[in-house]
Amino acid sequence: MSDDMQQNEMKQQVAQAALEWVRDDTVLGVGTGSTVNCFIDALASSGVRLEAAVSSSKATTRRLREIGIEVRELNHAGTLDLYVDGADEFDPHRRLIKGGGGALTREKIVAAASRKFVCIVDETKRVSVLGRFPLPVEVIPMARSYVARQIVAIGGQPEWREGVETDNGNVIIDVHNMDLVDPVDIERRLNDLAGVVSNGLFAIRPANLVLMATREGVQKY
Ligand code: 5RP
Repeated sequence: MSDDMQQNEMKQQVAQAALEWVRDDTVLGVGTGSTVNCFIDALASSGVRLEAAVSSSKATTRRLREIGIEVRELNHAGTLDLYVDGADEFDPHRRLIKGGGGALTREKIVAAASRKFVCIVDETKRVSVLGRFPLPVEVIPMARSYVARQIVAIGGQPEWREGVETDNGNVIIDVHNMDLVDPVDIERRLNDLAGVVSNGLFAIRPANLVLMATREGVQKY
């Protein structure tokens, strides 16, 4: 079996495992990405009867509606019991890099508004120190060059994700080779830059539980 097929199988496996945390008659927060797409497929065939979902992106909203789930505005949903989302990397403290799909800001908002964040990943996402995956930063378009210069000043190599516009009408800068040994500090420093909307570090508010698919089954962290 090819590596891609194996990774896809692992995504389906971990998506299925996450159903254990989903309860009938609740409003569920739903993330974005290919692993979450497997989770939405699993939800569709699970028989779970959600009251509604809060979505972290236009793409997820479309998929949820396709399977008949009502998508509710976060402003009308209050605090959510559960948020399920993927990640690009996770470390042993369940701190994450997210935003490979560009949905980091809405993902961070829905995660913040949820009591429990269950992160679903496969084993390729595990690292001992965050930073192998370039760190996405969402930026107001007019601040792109300014923010890029500030990122260089704090030790990163910025790369504009050209041609990409987020659901919020902003741009993404991917930061390479930044020292993320103290991810809480870097998350705060990036947030403090004028023009930064949010960044893909989920360290101040890490996941509560990581479900990681391996070739031998799903492990919990
Ligand atoms: C999107 C994200 C995704 O959760 C992350 O990119 C992982 O995606 P995938 O499940 O496709 O590997 O943060 O903004």
